[in-house]
Amino acid sequence: MTTFDQVVPITNEVLSAHRDKIAPLEWLVINRDLNGRVRFIAPEQAGEHEVRRADIEAVYQALSERLVPHAYPTDSGILYEASRELACQGATHYLLDGLDTVWVVDRLATEANWAHIAPETVGVPRIVFFSIKGGVGRSTALAATAWSLAQAGKRVLVLDLDLESPGLSSALLPPERQPMYGITDWLVEDLVGNGDVVLDSMVATSNLSHDGEIHVVPAHGAEHGEYIAKLGRVWMPKLHADGRRETWSARLERLLQALEARVRPDVVLIDSRSGIDEIASACITDMGANLILLFALEGEQTWNGYRMLFEQWQRAGVAEQIRERLQVVGAVVPELDRVEYLEGLREHSYEVFGVTLYDDIAPATPDTVGPKEVDGKRTWQVGSLVEGWNFDEADEGAPHHPWAVNWHRSFAGLRSLQGRLAVIDTQEVKAIFGPLLEGVNHVAEVTRQA
Ligand SMILES: Nc1ncnc2c1ncn2[C@@H]1O[C@H](COP(=O)(O)OP(=O)(O)OP(=O)(O)O)[C@@H](O)[C@H]1O
Ligand SMILES: [Mg+2]
Repeated sequence: MTTFDQVVPITNEVLSAHRDKIAPLEWLVINRDLNGRVRFIAPEQAGEHEVRRADIEAVYQALSERLVPHAYPTDSGILYEASRELACQGATHYLLDGLDTVWVVDRLATEANWAHIAPETVGVPRIVFFSIKGGVGRSTALAATAWSLAQAGKRVLVLDLDLESPGLSSALLPPERQPMYGITDWLVEDLVGNGDVVLDSMVATSNLSHDGEIHVVPAHGAEHGEYIAKLGRVWMPKLHADGRRETWSARLERLLQALEARVRPDVVLIDSRSGIDEIASACITDMGANLILLFALEGEQTWNGYRMLFEQWQRAGVAEQIRERLQVVGAVVPELDRVEYLEGLREHSYEVFGVTLYDDIAPATPDTVGPKEVDGKRTWQVGSLVEGWNFDEADEGAPHHPWAVNWHRSFAGLRSLQGRLAVIDTQEVKAIFGPLLEGVNHVAEVTRQA
């Protein structure tokens, strides 16, 4: 019996063995449905052509015998469609390795597929704070970053998209400043065309900065109301009067654009949910982020998690669209044996990036070549002959090279982060979050200039 992970490799094997029968087809779609069963979707003209039809049936027959129970009987396992676009219908699809007319379409029960990557936004820089594991100081680091950018005179827009365990807004706003509504309210009201009613009352300014401004959009308002009933509806796609179906992440993008138009920030900071989660997918892949911070604690769980994600991007052929925006952050780096700890973190980070996202070329040697920036993007010039996206393990400018956030006792087990940030000073923030702040500043500047 075949299990799920064997479906694609076996399909590849069987189809490769029948190249002669596949070659005359303009395209062929391997549809893996919600239950993980495979059907063929083939061009209509081929279905009307006696020989082609018989060939398709013969290949499906051969495949279904190997895929049991992940296939259908031949008479119900083949569908015909006018075009490949119709066959794919907005679902994740990618080319089957080595067969350039065969596409795999994956139907998932959730809309998050992690494989559709929105292009980088060209307006205000958007920076996403993500971590594969929770509780690693991501929201604290975001709050400190917002504070620091505002101290430098910037207008900062902060979104708490950790809808399932919100908290960021309470770090930046005292209770009396919490706005009436939050992102969850907007997503629910928008379904009934009522989004504008809450838009005016979902942003509040923080009292923490003196020179710039921090505008905070919380997950929920001062009164959380029926939060669970609302949360269960935020994922809903919206059906417009003209029949258009707008996914929830497209709605979120529309909200962000409305907020940007209203607040006119210099930079947007987004606190994503942790883990391989639906909201995290929207934050990382759908919102055109210019910088995606990957918070990491040293340990197998962290690197296995990031590896699953990077492999999905590689498999779906989208790694190149996203890898230049990624940056590892060393979360709460311990005081004790700090240097060794960071070395271990860097080594494991490099291993994961090396086998998934970096190009397969010999890394550059720093004395003959070096990093260069083209249009604000980091890349390596390898000799004068080959260009590739690969980095030396020790290269400080590489995305795998962690920007360290230090563990500090004054942040450990805090009762009120708001209270802590209210009395913090620039030197302290620098000592704990320095490399992160410098990196974020740099990306925000480069993006704005571009
Ligand atoms: N630099 C730091 N040094 C010491 N403790 C810290 C530091 N940053 C955060 N903490 C503490 O770690 C805990 C988790 O922090 P935080 O809520 O920021 O993590 P998170 O990654 O956002 O968690 P979640 O996944 O639950 O949203 C808190 O008790 C916080 O006070
Ligand atoms: Mg958090």
